Amino acid sequence: MTAENLTSGRIQIAMGLQDVVVDESKICFIDGKLPKLLYYGYNILDLAENCSYEEIVHLLLKGKLPSKTELAAISRELIEARGLPADVLETIKKAPKSSIPMDVLRTAVSQLALTDPKPNDDTPEGRYRKAIRLTALFPEIVAADYRARRGLDAVKNNPKLGHAANFMWLLHGKEAGPFVVKTMDVALVLHAEHSFNASTFTARVIAATLSDMYSAVTGAIGALKGPLHGGANEGVIKTLLEIGDASKVEPWILEKTKDKGFRLMGFGHRVYKALDPRAVVLKKYSEKSGKEAGVTKWFEMSVKIEEMMKTREKPLYPNVDFYSASTYYTMGLPPEIFTPIFAVSRVAGWCAHVIEQQSHNRLIRPDCAYTGAMDVPFVPIEKR
Ligand code: CMC
Repeated sequence: MTAENLTSGRIQIAMGLQDVVVDESKICFIDGKLPKLLYYGYNILDLAENCSYEEIVHLLLKGKLPSKTELAAISRELIEARGLPADVLETIKKAPKSSIPMDVLRTAVSQLALTDPKPNDDTPEGRYRKAIRLTALFPEIVAADYRARRGLDAVKNNPKLGHAANFMWLLHGKEAGPFVVKTMDVALVLHAEHSFNASTFTARVIAATLSDMYSAVTGAIGALKGPLHGGANEGVIKTLLEIGDASKVEPWILEKTKDKGFRLMGFGHRVYKALDPRAVVLKKYSEKSGKEAGVTKWFEMSVKIEEMMKTREKPLYPNVDFYSASTYYTMGLPPEIFTPIFAVSRVAGWCAHVIEQQSHNRLIRPDCAYTGAMDVPFVPIEKR
């Protein structure tokens, strides 16, 4: 399509694909104005308080909340799929200490395809098996990398522990208390799925070429890493650390927002034009975590920032990344692991979308308005 179509008004560009509907989906509903977030019709507020991450994996991959027997079965499948291949562990250990954890995760996940005897099995059973395998192995990759950077060996899985508790065990080599495990479980439930966001759409674009689930998930990790997407939670804690103290919030925000191009991480959203419901839940956990750890400073600063941003001429509201940052930080987790934690959760959503995409596939291939030169006379290399 040429630029003439643009100037003549025959086509309009939807920059960033805003408001473009590219497919139908049964997995996730978002109403950004109410606001409301549903996974397979269930309200995220009910799911966050009442469900374990394993129940959400069942919901996303099978389209229904599990009965007790079904929950026991999927929990067993996730436990049985644990155990990082030695080659992948070696890659993680050999990664330079200066590397970014999301790059290590992306590389390790890509390598998982090489350790799967049937990486391209696209039967329904094959896709489900890969989804369970990926979901089970993400915490191990992230924890092994976390420990390798600290000169520590990877810890073996604890088959007695569920997904969230085992993740904390793998990170620290000891069992976390019930509040920390519940907080991690809630965070995993909240981040598991969010419709056609950038990383999920990336996964669907890759899946739509009939490529395999490992490729789709590897691509999705690359998209999630960006600071405008999952990388924002690391940006939030950097902001809080830079401000340093609740008394400095106001002058800092006033100074920064003088620059029209300034982006405050953890604020704003393409879909939500009011408070992200996930932030409502995480705000409570940020407060509770602060009290539990005896460090309320990061929560108090966050509340101050939220108040300032919502009373501006053009209000902005926190998204999921805002209160997750202070929550994780008060749990003693370092900033560089925040985005990998997002991935540990979102992998289930990505896999659900790959399965859905391939169940009624059409290649995703948009068009652009060409604004470059036309029919340029060719000049041989000697004459250029
Ligand atoms: N700080 C300052 N101004 C902002 C922000 C922000 N965080 N977010 C939006 N705006 C302003 C923006 O400057 C623009 O103003 P104007 O109309 O005067 O030009 C207006 O709001 C609309 O912004 P936009 O960039 O056109 O909106 P978008 O839908 O393309 O962007 C966003 C959505 C998430 C990229 C953006 O809000 C942003 O950059 N936020 C900071 C990064 C962030 O927190 N990302 C995590 C998103 S939620 C979790 C996830 O899905 O990963």
